[in-house]
Amino acid sequence: MTQSTSISIPILFNREAFQQDLINWYNEIKRDLPWRENQDPYRIWVSEIMLQQTQVDTVIPYFEQFMERYPTVYDLAKADQQDVLKSWEGLGYYSRARNLHEAVKEVVTSYDGIVPNKKKELKKLKGIGSYTQGAILSIAFNQAEPAVDGNVMRVMSRVLHIEEDIARPKTKKMFEDVISNVMSQEDPSSFNQGLMELGALICQPKKPKCEQCPVQQHCLAYERETQAALPVKTKAKKQKREAFFTIVLKNEDDQYFIEQRPENGLLANMWQFPMFSQSEFDEKDFINWFELEHGVKLSVHSDYNQVRHVFSHVIWELDLIVAEIKSQDSINLEGKWVKVNELETYPFPNVQQKVVNELGLN
Ligand code: ADE
Ligand code: SF4
Repeated sequence: MTQSTSISIPILFNREAFQQDLINWYNEIKRDLPWRENQDPYRIWVSEIMLQQTQVDTVIPYFEQFMERYPTVYDLAKADQQDVLKSWEGLGYYSRARNLHEAVKEVVTSYDGIVPNKKKELKKLKGIGSYTQGAILSIAFNQAEPAVDGNVMRVMSRVLHIEEDIARPKTKKMFEDVISNVMSQEDPSSFNQGLMELGALICQPKKPKCEQCPVQQHCLAYERETQAALPVKTKAKKQKREAFFTIVLKNEDDQYFIEQRPENGLLANMWQFPMFSQSEFDEKDFINWFELEHGVKLSVHSDYNQVRHVFSHVIWELDLIVAEIKSQDSINLEGKWVKVNELETYPFPNVQQKVVNELGLN
């Protein structure tokens, strides 16, 4: 049996007062933004898609031009994808535009051009996740549905002192439950937009402006002075794998060839056995290329050796190619020929030391 976790709301938390303070503040300060002119669900939809990865100030002119060009779902549905992408040029995350375009076509063909007002239907449309559903349902249709993104999780994690890791997908679901529970049923649109606005203007990631905050009296993080520690967010450590050929080249004098790394980037200016990304070659091509490029003929050992090294953001996998120079024309290698015992006089990163150990050169 798995235990289901949920977030509890403090007994003393005053929902109604919190809602009122948030909504009153929102109505006082809300900005005149072009998507707030009316409750046209198509406009709300487009704006929420644009706002997902992009700042309000950047979005405004794009939104206005987009609406001029495609004022209704019908105009967008019949547009050419190249033109839609062109309208999006500079906003980035172009899959947003492609998905929106597809979804709008679906609204025209399956829903008579009327943006659905049901969760089940919205969910089926391309590019509409739980946040966008909630935003459209609450802002355009006054339904009490939460619209939870990273900003909203930040604000509510502070208000309710929630220490769940917001980097975990499950946590968003928990916040949706919590916000469903505390949100205004009368004015869900102002409530949700109030949270967004609070996150953008007051309860910012760094140095939240608690002195100006309309919900300060409801905020546990303020009371306990834990704002800076919230939200809890583990670093998403998605380590990339990079595969290299590493050539350990030996000459007749028992010297090995090493080169210096570039002056920028990982292990800048350190020394190494030459490394080549495997994205460009397979092993055979690589050896042929190396011989031609550097004017050498190689005798390659057939043993297979590999070295793996974990950096903070990347994992390197080195396939070692041990080769002796059989003959040379006009050798052109930029680096140094050194005896094994001279290696230690060069800054040689750990990963390269592993190569030495793996091959038993020392
Ligand atoms: N960010 C996301 N949705 C927004 C909205 N409706 N208004 C302002 N900022 C937002
Ligand atoms: Fe955020 Fe401070 Fe307001 Fe709490 S009091 S919600 S931490 S700005």
